[in-house]
Amino acid sequence: MIRRTAFLFLISVSFLVTAFPQGSSTHPRPVVVQGAMRSETEKLASRLENVSIEKVGGWTFWSGSVDGYPVIVSRTLKGVENAAAATAIVIQRYNPIAIINQGTAGGYDPGLHLYDIVLGTTSVSLGAFKTSYRAAGSGSNTLDWVPLNMLFEGSAANDSTARKVLGFPGDSVLLAAARSVSRLYNRGRVVPGIIGSADMWNDEIDRIELFRTKYGASVEDMETASAAQIASFFRVAFLGIRVVSDNTTNGDAFEPKTGEACEDYVYLVVKAYVGTLAH
Ligand code: 5AD
Repeated sequence: MIRRTAFLFLISVSFLVTAFPQGSSTHPRPVVVQGAMRSETEKLASRLENVSIEKVGGWTFWSGSVDGYPVIVSRTLKGVENAAAATAIVIQRYNPIAIINQGTAGGYDPGLHLYDIVLGTTSVSLGAFKTSYRAAGSGSNTLDWVPLNMLFEGSAANDSTARKVLGFPGDSVLLAAARSVSRLYNRGRVVPGIIGSADMWNDEIDRIELFRTKYGASVEDMETASAAQIASFFRVAFLGIRVVSDNTTNGDAFEPKTGEACEDYVYLVVKAYVGTLAH
């Protein structure tokens, strides 16, 4: 009798696992919205219904719902290490169906102005480079540096495959949801583009121009590509959404309030996206 019960239990567990690999309608997988700073997350967190807060190490997660669907707002803190760690933690702890990394960014394209929003068709790592040999006293020129593919095992010294910039495509369903609400955003334009990320704030116009022309980046931030890399390892749908908060190429000075405008837009994106999910 006990063996029969155990057998039936195993059968039903394996049915549940195969029937609902993406979560079930009673336990849908949450959507995660990340932001590095208070000014990029506070408004979104305050809009969640039935919210509870969890702290893990240095990271804070607000769990709640939007239109009845589970949504988690995650404050990643600034920079590539923090964003990568926060992404790994949220994936392991909450098994999300999708991650949106959003917040402020510096414009590379002179046509981009404060409050314009870039939807990340791709994000690229702009933080890993190899310098060529220069003798003592001959200085340094960052324009000569070659990118390093940190996911390639071989040596950059003798394999050109290692000398490539790493790119992570944005998820097409998330992109479609973002595009579907772009006309509701009236603070600026919403345009597709490539987001470059590194622990750098670049104000050297020649360096920015190189990143723009060689790697196609329209804006730079410090988190998107690193979060995208971790999400891709776990095959979690990912999209970067960045508002232009400063643009040294056209003289637009830093405006921190742009972060809130981005939150308003991302809230609409989340509503559109969860509307497409079964719940
Ligand atoms: N360069 C790099 N990061 C920027 N950020 C806003 N503007 C820039 C810029 N010009 C974002 C980063 C980081 C914080 C400094 O704001 O993502 O979290």
